[in-house]
Amino acid sequence: MKEKRFTIIDEAAMHDFGAQLAGALKPGDWVAINGPLGAGKTVLCKAVIRHFGYTGEVSSPSYALVHHYDGAEMDFPIVHADLYRLSNIEDLEELGLDDGRDDCITLVEWAEKSGDYFGDADFELTVIPYGEGQRTVILLQRN
Ligand SMILES: Nc1ncnc2c1ncn2[C@@H]1O[C@H](COP(=O)(O)OP(=O)(O)OP(=O)(O)O)[C@@H](O)[C@H]1O
Ligand SMILES: [Mg+2]
Repeated sequence: MKEKRFTIIDEAAMHDFGAQLAGALKPGDWVAINGPLGAGKTVLCKAVIRHFGYTGEVSSPSYALVHHYDGAEMDFPIVHADLYRLSNIEDLEELGLDDGRDDCITLVEWAEKSGDYFGDADFELTVIPYGEGQRTVILLQRN
């Protein structure tokens, strides 16, 4: 298991980081993303989703809990989840994150809300804000 730390100086740097992370991802990967409200988890996910060719609107799945991106311009689907509003862990199965997981990349904000469900995620990121617009990202890579 490798742990790396990245210093992100502003939002544009978070976009760059997302593109760099995307370069390390492949279908079947689960990416667990934690960090406080407003840390930049969705900004990071947007950068990853755009990197894989999606050109439409990418919004936060705060209410739907899961958004699916599967445009003709993409080689494989991306699933983007946000578990902040998950009321109980039993509801997780209904989100279907495990279905077809081998064929897509799964990005999960607030993975920590799911107990151990994403305990073996291929990538685990923690976004820590500090100063004005700066972030530290801690990246754990399991594969
Ligand atoms: N370095 C940075 N990286 C990412 N976002 C930044 C940065 N600096 C400022 N921001 C701002 O911080 C906010 C991050 O919002 P975002 O929705 O991505 O957070 P989040 O972690 O997904 O929050 P939530 O827990 O509500 O889902 C945006 O308004 C963005 O413009
Ligand atoms: Mg978010």
